[in-house]
Amino acid sequence: MIGLSGRNNYFAYAISALTQQPEFEVAQITLKSYAKLNLYLAVINKRRDNYHNLFTLFERISLYDTITLKSRGDPGINIISDSKDIPLDRSNLAFKSAELLQKRFCPGKGVDIKIIKRIPVGGGMGGGSSNAATVLLGLNKLWKLKLSAPKLVHFAGEIGSDVPFFIYRCPFAIGTGRGEKIKPLNSLKKTVIWHILAIRRINVPTPLIFREWDKHNFLAKSALTTHKRNVKILTSALRNKDLVSIKKALFNSLEQPAVKIYPDLAGIRRRLEGLGLECIMMSGSGPTFFALASSHDNAVSVSRQLQNKKLWEIHVVKTT
Ligand code: C5P
Repeated sequence: MIGLSGRNNYFAYAISALTQQPEFEVAQITLKSYAKLNLYLAVINKRRDNYHNLFTLFERISLYDTITLKSRGDPGINIISDSKDIPLDRSNLAFKSAELLQKRFCPGKGVDIKIIKRIPVGGGMGGGSSNAATVLLGLNKLWKLKLSAPKLVHFAGEIGSDVPFFIYRCPFAIGTGRGEKIKPLNSLKKTVIWHILAIRRINVPTPLIFREWDKHNFLAKSALTTHKRNVKILTSALRNKDLVSIKKALFNSLEQPAVKIYPDLAGIRRRLEGLGLECIMMSGSGPTFFALASSHDNAVSVSRQLQNKKLWEIHVVKTT
């Protein structure tokens, strides 16, 4: 864990490029909108607002959507996408980001949002949340709003629990609260890990998996101190690329509830283990499973053995 001043320094460094104002009018901007994995995800307890307190370690990965924002002279907000799996209306988190900034700061302006989708929808990799964060960062520049980093984080938290992590644009961070309170992990700034992703071609609704967790754990209150200790161990294992210790430390409270609802998810863990991989875990509320590879070549050769799977989408990705 790092202190507040360290966090602020890192924060300023991480998002300065997108909060600086250009000297000339920019009409269009294209940005990468990266996915995340949860290397550790502990559900602590259910809250009165029906959300759950979490203790999670996020990793930003190289799988990304591409977002182009084009300013409009009228107040229209339009989304177009090459994907049929995302909504193009208000229910899209990217739309919510644009609408929130428009209502508060720019009632006369609108935006055309083009989303080229590569992050699987409902896959547990935060694709929609990442798109929302990218629209906040992009419109801050396009509309010359000069919003400070803490303001952007605040708005991101209003849009969704996973959105603030993507505002920080850092490779690794701890998330607490609903997942919206972020502390970047400076000690892992230079750590790069290769992964094989195996993504079941189904859309898993996050609330369904949390409800399943409630059924079996609603009286249980897991010890935050234990999770803090475990994440410290995981952080140092990641820094040292110590796969034996990483294997022991990976954790996700939501894997069991997800497998209970979608029993065939258990098959991919067995398949990955059968290929000699050891560090395997589900991300978020699923259905994405990831495995750590020892190198890029190792990840590619394992992924080749997993190809031709109609039910599973396979990717090789790294920390970004
Ligand atoms: O915050 P977000 O809109 O992404 O959350 C989607 C749903 O996931 C929530 O409505 C809630 O059912 C569940 N959730 C939760 N606890 C969290 C995050 C999400 O229960 N910390």
